[in-house]
Amino acid sequence: MKRTAFGVAAAGLLAASVPDPTLAADPRTIDWQAVPPKSVTLFYPGESTYDWLVSRAHKGARSVRQGKSCVSCHEVDEKDLGGILVKGDVVEPTPIPGKNGVLDVTVQAAHDAEYLYWRFQWKSHLAREGRMHDYVRFDGKQWKWYGHDRNDKAVRSGEQPPLYEDRFSIMLDDGKVARFAQQGCWLTCHDGMRDTRNEVVGDPVKKHPLLGADGLRHSDVRKYLASTRTDPAASWDKTRAKEEIAKLKAEGRFLDLMQWRAARSAPVGMADDGYVLEYRNFDAGKNPFSWNVERKTMTPLYMFDAAKVGFKALRAEDIGNADKPAAVVKEANAVPFDPKADWRAGDILPGRLLSRIDAKGSAADNDASYGTWKDGTYTLVWRRKLDTGNPADDKILKVGGKYTVGFAVHDDNVTTRFHHVSFPLTLGIGVDADITAVTLK
Ligand code: HEC
Repeated sequence: MKRTAFGVAAAGLLAASVPDPTLAADPRTIDWQAVPPKSVTLFYPGESTYDWLVSRAHKGARSVRQGKSCVSCHEVDEKDLGGILVKGDVVEPTPIPGKNGVLDVTVQAAHDAEYLYWRFQWKSHLAREGRMHDYVRFDGKQWKWYGHDRNDKAVRSGEQPPLYEDRFSIMLDDGKVARFAQQGCWLTCHDGMRDTRNEVVGDPVKKHPLLGADGLRHSDVRKYLASTRTDPAASWDKTRAKEEIAKLKAEGRFLDLMQWRAARSAPVGMADDGYVLEYRNFDAGKNPFSWNVERKTMTPLYMFDAAKVGFKALRAEDIGNADKPAAVVKEANAVPFDPKADWRAGDILPGRLLSRIDAKGSAADNDASYGTWKDGTYTLVWRRKLDTGNPADDKILKVGGKYTVGFAVHDDNVTTRFHHVSFPLTLGIGVDADITAVTLK
């Protein structure tokens, strides 16, 4: 059976929910052989947060403060930096044994009058696809979280298996975020975020007027831009007033951030759509993924439709089996959870519910992102409207325009900062740049 990122697409389950590949705008039908490839080296950044980069500990601090580009000193340095940091260093206190320091991505881009098209190829560290995420397992009495990311304590100690989704992320700017062209994603990375030295989680965040229970309702700190903070160190809690942040957003002073998620978006042929400003936000509307567990009671909401896929739950030995679905897709392979069904200890259900038809608005812009994994290599094709019609949380692109992009890959069941990232690159829509999106005839 031909393996595709839709898991069981070959069985026709999702056929109705993905666009017709004969459409002109389908990124799978483009003649990619005719589009020149560009090799981009991504490297492991450890905890090189912005505050660290402008601190005395970093030899280039003064230049970074002045806005100089990373590559003005670190040109073709990716292999060295990644190789050092991944093994453990002042900026990597908790290395992951056996992890690779660099990752090469082959990038191709094309455009027509309406869309930008991408193709990315990279090798995965593991000989399996990372398409499992937030799984829950029945232990004979109750459902409990099963597996976690590689940095998780229980995974490091061997108590839980490493299960987490692989991802490909694109950060995009149109020149409105000062220094992004020079310093890329490091602008968004600060101490206090998840898995950094002084990680802030729980009550301190919940009590924060803007980020917490009375505001955005977060309980941890994620990417943000220094422009949304009031102190020189851009501390997580020194946020500007809500109105000032709204003004920055209205002026387009945010970064577009889109993530293809092997578990949470790929099974429905999508990528998510977000933006970075005072937090890593999702665009307005509805994501293709939501929770499949009532988290207070740990009760699943949907299970696999046995009539369609032959079973109502997975077992541990099914994980990594390309012929079995890894995601519950509401409109394709799911039925409401039946608590009275004969659940056996060891039954496993995805803790996330996917739906292409429920995804709505600006959050659903990346509606044709198809990744396949074969013999250790991911191939991901992706389209995005040049003008999504949602300037409030997207960058609007124009033919002839030049932009800045940064890429990240989360590989081998990692999350947060345990990824590989690129220095920023220019993207030209039909014009010469580091990456030129060629004009399709
Ligand atoms: C003015 C030159 C300069 C600039 C600009 C600069 N750096 Fe550096 N950086 C250095 C030097 C020098 C070192 C130390 C290298 C060494 O000791 O081999 C270094 C080290 C590093 C390290 C390795 C730290 C370690 O512990 O091994 C990282 C990561 C790094 N820089 C990231 C960046 C990033 C990201 C930027 C852009 C935001 C940047 N640098 C900009 C000069 C610079």
